[in-house]
Amino acid sequence: MTLWSGRFSAAMDETLWNLSESYSFDRVLYAHDIEGSMAHVRGLEAAGLLSSEECVTLLDTLETIKGEFDADTFERRDSDEDIHMAIERRATELAGAVGAKIHTSRSRNDQVATTLRLFTRDALSEIARHALALVDTLVAVGEKNAEAYLPGYTHLQRAQPVLLSHHLQAHAWSLLRDVDRIFDARRRLNVSPLGAGALAGTSLPILPEVTAALLGFDETFANSMDAVSDRDFVAESLFDIALLGIHMSRMGEELVLWTTSEFNFATLGDDFTTGSSMLPHKKNSDVAELARGKSGRLVGNLTSLLVTLKGLPLSYNRDLQEDKEPLFDSVKQVLLVLAAMNGAYQSMTFRVDVAAAAADDQLLVAIDIAERLVADGMPFRQAHEVAGGLVGRAVRENKSLADVVAEEPTLAHCGDLFERGAALANRRSPGSSGPSASAVQSARLQERIAALTARL
Ligand code: ARG
Repeated sequence: MTLWSGRFSAAMDETLWNLSESYSFDRVLYAHDIEGSMAHVRGLEAAGLLSSEECVTLLDTLETIKGEFDADTFERRDSDEDIHMAIERRATELAGAVGAKIHTSRSRNDQVATTLRLFTRDALSEIARHALALVDTLVAVGEKNAEAYLPGYTHLQRAQPVLLSHHLQAHAWSLLRDVDRIFDARRRLNVSPLGAGALAGTSLPILPEVTAALLGFDETFANSMDAVSDRDFVAESLFDIALLGIHMSRMGEELVLWTTSEFNFATLGDDFTTGSSMLPHKKNSDVAELARGKSGRLVGNLTSLLVTLKGLPLSYNRDLQEDKEPLFDSVKQVLLVLAAMNGAYQSMTFRVDVAAAAADDQLLVAIDIAERLVADGMPFRQAHEVAGGLVGRAVRENKSLADVVAEEPTLAHCGDLFERGAALANRRSPGSSGPSASAVQSARLQERIAALTARL
C-alpha cells in the first residue's frame, strides 16, 4: 500500500515502480532526512500541531530509526519508494497512531529539498576540508625541497627557472579559490525550504523560522514555489566540484609528465603507483591519470543536472529526482581524488638534480641578459633584439650562450648571470619566485589558508 492509496484503485505497474523508485540510491540521505524530520516534529509542537508527548514519541521513534540505519538493520519494504517514504512508514509502524501525524503540513517536495540542502552543506564542508589538506601537502612538499627548482614552462617549452615551492603554490592558490567558491555555495544554499509544502504552503499555522533555526539554516525561503522547485544549489555545487576536479586534473597531467623517463623530475612512492600485468618493468602513475580521468565525469554530472533543469515548469517536477545521482557521484569521486592526490604528493620524490639541470639550460638566461641591458638604459625592444641575436648565434654556431656572451666585450658584466641559480636570485618582482617575493607569497598563502580554515 502506498501513502497515496486513497485515490487509486490499482497498484503501480512494476515497470513504473522500477523507473520511479529512488530508495536504491537516496538511502544515503537517511541521516539528513531524519535530522530534517526531527526539526519538523519540533516545529509542529511549537506551532501547537503536536502535543509535547506526541513530539517526544516521534523524536524517540526517529532516533530509533536512525539507529537501525546506522547499524544497517533497517529493512526496506516493497512499498518504500524512496528514503522519505521508508522512514515515514517505519515511524508509523513503531509509533502507532501518532506516526500518522509526522507528515502534517509537509510534502516530500519541501522535505526532499530540505534533506538535500542538509546533505550538500555537509558534503561541501567535507570537500573543503580535504582540499585544504591537499593545499597543506603542496606547501609542505615545497618546504621539504626548499632549494629545488625546475624550468617553468609556457607552451610546454622551457621558459624561466622557478622554485618548486613556487610551482606547487600556484596549484595551492587555485585550490584555495575552489575552497572559497565552495564556501560561497554553502552560504547561498543555507536557506530552509521546510514549510513550503507541496508548492504553495499550508493553511495550518506552521512556524518555518523555528525549523530553519533548528537546522542551522540562516533564513527561511521567501517563496514556496521557488523553495520546492529549484536545484540551483546542486548545480552550483556540481560546478564548484567540477572545477576543483579540473584543477586536480591539470595537476595529475603534470605528475604524469614529471614521472615519465623523458622528464624524470619526480617519482611517486611504490604505494602510489601501479605495475603492469604484462611488462615487468612498469611503474605507472595511475593515480595522476585517474585524477585527470575523473574530471570528465565531474563535468558530465554538472552537465547532466543542467540539462535536467532546463525547461522545467514551476514548481516541483519528478525530473528533479535526477538531481541526486550526479550529486552523490561527484561528491564521492572528488573526495576519492582529493585523498589519493594528497597521498601521491606526500609519496613523491622530487629529483632535484634532474630538474635543476633542465632549468640550468643556458638559453633560459636570455631574458636576464635583456633585462640587464634594460637596467643599463637600453629600451627593452632593442635589448630583446640583442639577446635574441646572441641566442641565434649560439644555436647556429653550436656554442653555449655563455661562450657567445663571453666573446662580446660589451657584455662583460653579464657573465655572472650564468652562475647556478642566478636567474632565480635576481628575480625580485612581487609574486615572482625570487627569494624575497617567495617569502611574501608564503606568508600570504598561510594567511589565506588560516582564513579559509576558520570557515570550515
Ligand atoms: N524521491 C523524490 C525526489 O527525489 C521525492 C519527492 C517526490 N515528490 C513527489 N511529488 N512525487 O524528488
